[in-house]
Amino acid sequence: MKLWAISDLHVGYKKNLLAVGELAPHPNDWLVLCGDIGDTLEQVELALRLLNQKFAQLIWVPGNHELWTVPRKTGLRGVARYEALVELCRRHQVLTPEDPFPVWQGDGGAHVLAPLFALYDYSFRPDDVPIAEAVAWAREGKVLCTDEALLQPEPYNHVGEWCAARVAESERRLDEALEEHDLPTVLIAHFPLRQEHAILPNIPRFMVWCGTRLTEQWHQRFNARVVISGHLHIPCTRYVDGVRFEEVSLGYPNQWEARELRQGWLLEDHLRQILPAPSQDAGDPLAGYEFPL
Ligand SMILES: [Fe+2]
Ligand SMILES: [Fe+2]
Repeated sequence: MKLWAISDLHVGYKKNLLAVGELAPHPNDWLVLCGDIGDTLEQVELALRLLNQKFAQLIWVPGNHELWTVPRKTGLRGVARYEALVELCRRHQVLTPEDPFPVWQGDGGAHVLAPLFALYDYSFRPDDVPIAEAVAWAREGKVLCTDEALLQPEPYNHVGEWCAARVAESERRLDEALEEHDLPTVLIAHFPLRQEHAILPNIPRFMVWCGTRLTEQWHQRFNARVVISGHLHIPCTRYVDGVRFEEVSLGYPNQWEARELRQGWLLEDHLRQILPAPSQDAGDPLAGYEFPL
């Protein structure tokens, strides 16, 4: 019994939906879906139906795309949108950040699996850029995330406020889980926990929409063995303080097709083995890369 992870399936792209349908069944294993399954509730439901047939248990955390208000005028906004996604998952027996954290008893030993929703607050930026000016700084570099038009924070006034509330709630839940279970954890969140991992060579200033500095030490504070994230669409394995950080994105069709050509990654190679620890990790195509901001 293995634990796998993948993110950023973006099944609104027909090629991606077909790819999900082609994934081999793993009837005894669990799968973490680390956000950005799709843009609409219908797309998310379609993917959950397909993957529920292939895995024994699914675990989901939201990405920014699922949280978009679509249709733009009439769609659910902010927290109401998130709650509708949680309801949808529950109808399909998929675990979410709102459920008790399950204790993994499969291969690789007992771990608390912690699906988390912490969002971002524009604090990933150079130290000399004030948070309030981070979006303007990104725009100066010709980068603007669609979230600015489609991700609504209601009833909060600002995404940063929503993020602060989610971080506080997540920390409370993690403290509670660690009091109950003296076990290592697997932290699961769409956005990377550490700014140093928000490396995007083609659009470096996109880092502004990639996380919060409030989660920088979570891997140590909450006894993580593995941290899983997506969002960057640059799959890799990195290590910090002996903790394995897995970026598990599939990404847009042109991205995973290019990976197939350049790195020889087949579709199945995008399914990342989390537990037990794989004998060979995914590597880091950006190791040592320094880019200008
Ligand atoms: Fe994505
Ligand atoms: Fe994302």
